[in-house]
Amino acid sequence: MGEKLTIAVQKSGRLQEDSLKILKECGISIDNGKDQLKANASNFPLEVLYLRNSDIPQYVEDGVADIAIVGGNVIVEKQKELEILQKLGFSKCRLAMALPKDVEYTGLEYFNGKKLATSYPNSLQQFLDENNLDCDIHVISGSVEIAPNIGLADGICDLVSSGSTLFKNGLKEVEEVLVSEACLVANKNISDLKRAILDRLLFRMKSVLAAKN
Ligand code: PRP
Ligand code: MG
Repeated sequence: MGEKLTIAVQKSGRLQEDSLKILKECGISIDNGKDQLKANASNFPLEVLYLRNSDIPQYVEDGVADIAIVGGNVIVEKQKELEILQKLGFSKCRLAMALPKDVEYTGLEYFNGKKLATSYPNSLQQFLDENNLDCDIHVISGSVEIAPNIGLADGICDLVSSGSTLFKNGLKEVEEVLVSEACLVANKNISDLKRAILDRLLFRMKSVLAAKN
C-alpha cells in the first residue's frame, strides 16, 4: 500500500463542519462510518482522525497526525512547534477581555490586581506580560462567561464570535488579545513522500480558497 497523509480535524465543535467541507471542495471523499474516530478518503491518500480541538496541536507536534485543521487561537495557546501552511478563512473569531457591562472601563491598567477567568491562560499571560499587567488568572475549561456573575472573577478572557454569549451574560468586550481563524498546520518533520502528497492537497486548497475571493 502506498504512503498516505494523516489529517486531524475537530471531532465535534464549531470547526468540524467547515473543515470537512473544505476537504470535500478539494474533491476528497471521506468514508465516514457512524461514530468512527478514524476514516479514510476513497480517492486521495488521506486518513482523517477526529480529535478534541485542544489535543490537536500536540498530536501534530508528536507526528501522530501529519497535518491538521485547527483554530489559530489553539495553536497560540498550546505553544507547539508547528508549520502554519495556510489560513483557511473560516471560524474567524477573537480572543478578548470582557467586563460586566456596568463597569466604567478606564483602560488596560484597570485590570491590574483583578481576577480573570479564561480557558486560554498562556495567551492571556502573554498579553498581560506585554502590557506589564499583573492579574490573578483562574482557569476554567468552558462557560467562562458565567464567572463574573457567580463571583468567581472580575472579568474574563474568552473567544468572541458574534458577541451574543457576552451580551446574554451582561458582559462587554473591552480589549482584543488576538484574532484567530482556522488554519492548516503541519508537523515540521514530515517525510518527503508525505510532503509530496501534502503539496497536492495544498495546491487544491489554494485553488478552492482563491475561487472564494
Ligand atoms: C465559545 C466561546 C464563547 C462563545 C463565543 O463557546 O468560548 O463562549 O463560543 O461565541 P459568540 O460570540 O458567537 O457567542 P462555546 O459555545 O464553544 O462553549 P464552551 O465555552 O462552553 O466550550
Ligand atoms: Mg464559551
